[in-house]
Amino acid sequence: MTAPLVRISPRTLRKHHRRVFDDLAARGDLVWVDTGHQRFVVVNSADLVRELMIDRAEELVKPSSQAIETGPPAPAVADDGVPVPEFRAALAKGMGPSRVPDVVESVTSAVQAEVAQWRDGMRFRLMPRMRRLAITATCWSSFGSRLSAEEVVRAERAVRGTGRRIPVNSRAAQRWDRLTLNRRRHRGSFAQLVALSRSLVANADRSRPTELTATLDDLPLLAPSLTEDDRQAMLVELFLGAVGPLAQTYAWTLLRFATEPDAAARLRREWDEAAPGSRLHCTEAFVREVTRLHPTNERITRQATSDTTLGGERIPELTRIVLNVGALHGDPRFFEEPGRFAPERWLDGRPTPNKFAYVAFGVGGRRCLGETMAVTAVTAMLPALLQNWEVGFGKLRFASKGRYQPAESVRVTVRAR
Ligand code: HEM
Repeated sequence: MTAPLVRISPRTLRKHHRRVFDDLAARGDLVWVDTGHQRFVVVNSADLVRELMIDRAEELVKPSSQAIETGPPAPAVADDGVPVPEFRAALAKGMGPSRVPDVVESVTSAVQAEVAQWRDGMRFRLMPRMRRLAITATCWSSFGSRLSAEEVVRAERAVRGTGRRIPVNSRAAQRWDRLTLNRRRHRGSFAQLVALSRSLVANADRSRPTELTATLDDLPLLAPSLTEDDRQAMLVELFLGAVGPLAQTYAWTLLRFATEPDAAARLRREWDEAAPGSRLHCTEAFVREVTRLHPTNERITRQATSDTTLGGERIPELTRIVLNVGALHGDPRFFEEPGRFAPERWLDGRPTPNKFAYVAFGVGGRRCLGETMAVTAVTAMLPALLQNWEVGFGKLRFASKGRYQPAESVRVTVRAR
């Protein structure tokens, strides 16, 4: 072993996992972490991303959970019967650039319904609204379907419930999880979403490819052994995979808009001057910068299915490899003054020629399929929501259990312009 080894107790990792990962970033490109039962590797450098995510993709696979495992190493993902490349190809049919107009339309109409309820000086909790917006927009653009207003409210609560995952899977975390009924709530929320997904299926337009047709029409042909329940669960996973990060990115985008007055003024100028339907370059750059500084997946995890190597380091079978996304996005070799919120760095495309330095949407064969749709959805949301409104935040608090995002208690005040 040539990379440095750091010993960290599961307790410290659980209590301070964000700070720990920030500290690990300074220890080298590759750092071993020993938690007692398990050693995992943290990758802090863009130079290793190609090897990790592309060259070794056969033996370094995506595990079923992205939680940091600190117990004895678990077997590498059991084959769940889904032929990943074929299913991804089926999903991709309905998620490419051709869907951009659909995304803009669904975001704009979801936002119009939201803004219609606003009154000058109104104050409300940020996250539930962002989730409802993300749900309404996603139902139509990704699933070609709709939920009623009452179902959207129920779906929002259920999505919130599934977000209570533990980020560090230690014995103490599991005990705490049981004590706070999190696990039961999590299961209950998932069941709620399965029930709601039946409405999604019933209301769907299945004449064009979407995530819904890929799961219900293409997947049975690709994997006949999967049951209907498996497919329904897959639909819910896909729904959560779209709504969770989208709502989180909506929230960070509004927060940055409210706290970066110069950048916000530039966007307002762009909205005032842009011809209808034209591309909003500054707004898109703003959204990219939000995803760099607030990536929804702070750690992207892989697990070795056999003995292998990474950066010349021997990686034994079952080892987990954690890509420290914050370390990459904060690397001054690739981003000038990386801590500064500077959307203009994206105006001429990527700020760095190294395409592995920015991994907000992953890289390689398991990267995000919804990147174009997500960036379009957030870019369309901003002017639709804020052209005639200002947003202000009081006391800011952040939740770092499960997903790192503005806390549920954070309230926003809206003022007519
Ligand atoms: C700003 C919002 C979003 C962010 C930051 C984001 C980011 C990510 C990341 C980091 C991954 C995992 C990559 C890995 O483990 O290697 C992922 C996977 C995925 N995302 Fe997104 N995503 C977003 C929105 C969406 C949306 C709106 C959709 C659907 C319309 C979507 C569909 C998917 C799918 C299907 C996968 C799974 C790919 C696989 O496992 O093969 N995402 N996303």
